[in-house]
Amino acid sequence: MKLVAATGNAHKLREIRQILQGYEVLSAAEAGFSGEIEETGKSFLENALLKARAVAYALKLPALADDSGLSVDALGGAPGIYSARYSGGGDKENRALLLKNLSGKEDRRAHFCCAVALVLPDGTEYTAEGRTFGTILEKERGNGGFGYDPLFFSEDLQKTFAEAAEEEKNAVSHRGRALLALKKQL
Ligand code: IMP
Repeated sequence: MKLVAATGNAHKLREIRQILQGYEVLSAAEAGFSGEIEETGKSFLENALLKARAVAYALKLPALADDSGLSVDALGGAPGIYSARYSGGGDKENRALLLKNLSGKEDRRAHFCCAVALVLPDGTEYTAEGRTFGTILEKERGNGGFGYDPLFFSEDLQKTFAEAAEEEKNAVSHRGRALLALKKQL
């Protein structure tokens, strides 16, 4: 099955390809989609669906989208769906703001959430969600991954996602779990 991944994030695309081995996964750019999609949804699932629908209907090909983020208990679930835009800067600035907002807080529990949506050009929709739990460290550890990975100490792996090999992260990650649940429906 040929899928278009409705994401411009090269790290996510790499993870999606690794998890969905056996599927031909094209990036939106490779498939000829150049539009901007505004993430106006109020949940991960709404945003995943709106991205997948936009690409599936524009290209008339099955489109897969993911929307994901970090939810920190002591911050009432923030940054949540605003994870990518938390600081107004890039990943590095987002991590710095997270550490600042958590300074002095004892409760460091957090989880990543991921919603995935696969939309076919005939309107058929499949969706799934995944979560993974851990804590936010006070200092970054590791050089791999992206986003909040160097600060997220995984309960399953007993190391940060940035210290884990790609396959290790994908086996327990929110994205890995969501995509596995989706794959089971196909
Ligand atoms: P999205 O592109 O709107 O789904 O934004 C996702 C944002 O959440 C990313 O920019 C990261 O900041 C964060 N995020 C999602 N998944 C991960 C992950 O696997 N590791 C680290 N950060 C992540």
